[in-house]
Amino acid sequence: MESYTQQMNFFGKTNPEELLAKYGSPLYVYNEDILRRQMRRVAGILVNHRFTSNFSIKTNSNLSILRMANEEGLNADAMSPGEIYVLKKAGFPSERIFYVPNNVSEEEMQYAIDEGVMLSVDSLSQLEMFGRLCPGGRLSVRLNPGVGAGHHEKVVTAGEKTKFGVAAQDIEKINDVAKKYDLHVVGLNQHIGSLFMDYQPYLDAVTNFLHYAEDFPELEFVDFGGGFGVPYHKLEGESEFDLEAFKKALDQLLTEWKNRTGRDLLFKMEPGRYTVAEGGVLLGCVHAVKENYGHKYVGTDIGMNVLIRPELYDSYHDVEIYRDGKPVLDGTKEIYSVVGNICETGDIVAKDRELPITQEGDVAVVLDAGAYGFSMSSNYNNRLRPAEVLIDHDGNDRLIRRRDTFEDLVRGFDI
Ligand code: LLP
Repeated sequence: MESYTQQMNFFGKTNPEELLAKYGSPLYVYNEDILRRQMRRVAGILVNHRFTSNFSIKTNSNLSILRMANEEGLNADAMSPGEIYVLKKAGFPSERIFYVPNNVSEEEMQYAIDEGVMLSVDSLSQLEMFGRLCPGGRLSVRLNPGVGAGHHEKVVTAGEKTKFGVAAQDIEKINDVAKKYDLHVVGLNQHIGSLFMDYQPYLDAVTNFLHYAEDFPELEFVDFGGGFGVPYHKLEGESEFDLEAFKKALDQLLTEWKNRTGRDLLFKMEPGRYTVAEGGVLLGCVHAVKENYGHKYVGTDIGMNVLIRPELYDSYHDVEIYRDGKPVLDGTKEIYSVVGNICETGDIVAKDRELPITQEGDVAVVLDAGAYGFSMSSNYNNRLRPAEVLIDHDGNDRLIRRRDTFEDLVRGFDI
């Protein structure tokens, strides 16, 4: 029997223990083959239409991974001037970056205009701001179709209870404001939410969205957003997002729309999690095992500063235990909560999990940590953010971001 990471040959020529000895613990580890496989999958979602897929830097902003996405022909979407800056450092030219911000200042908007980056506004008020800054300019508008989807209410990014986009009832006002400043609405975008395994709500949202698109005569592109899920419960046999069936259904829907309207727009998407989640794992050391009032805890250095998803969204990440470079697969199991080293009761990576009997010195391997893992990490409790390592196609390991140092913790106070 093999563990999931063994089946994937995730660690190439090395193993979790060697990696921690070499680079320190905790540690983010990425597998180049898996990342590139996913990047190619998303780049090829639509083959019968003009299509580009964006890499959502918010999921993972490691320069080496961004360069990989660039090599694989993905464009990119950015949420902030900092993301634009980093994407440019990774080699993305302005015309392949799409800026999809929310509630930005004039300075931030001007930054994108000066950089020559296509921008989406997500309210009538920001449309006015764009008109004042860039009369006669070209831009995209983010719509909120009134329905959303996602794994948690905090990541449903459309619908009546979210801050995003221009509400359906205000859509006709977009053209009025555009007229006032001689703006050209060349793009429409939406993002209904993050992590769904059933693609039907997405297809419904696309249908609905295309209906609105018909009211915009100058459109050159429409961006349907991302949100495709990955199986976080894979050790229990959860199936993958059915990309092939989704591609077929979407292709059909778009072909019908094109035939009916005679319009040939560029179609775009922004699948973030689907592109990078499974290509990354998070390793940590077990420093204590204990029982408190009948509850067993595996105490690790994987604090909520390193991976916040379980605390923020009650997210589930599978965990494997490695010992002496190999996964512990047989023997008695126990129910443990895997916890971190942060001063918060909620600092729990994995609650009440059936794991092999675990001991000090074991390595906990948290799966599917490539998206919204490092990018959401922090220095809370003045903990150091971990290093990031890539296992390349030949199975060799390479440092792609160094671990924080104590000096990093006082950077900014030299004033
Ligand atoms: N495009 C836009 C405009 C977005 O707002 C997002 C995500 C994406 C693309 C990428 O969505 P994806 O394909 O990854 O679902 N931190 C949360 C997820 C927040 C998603 C926010 N927007 C998590 O860890 O689950």
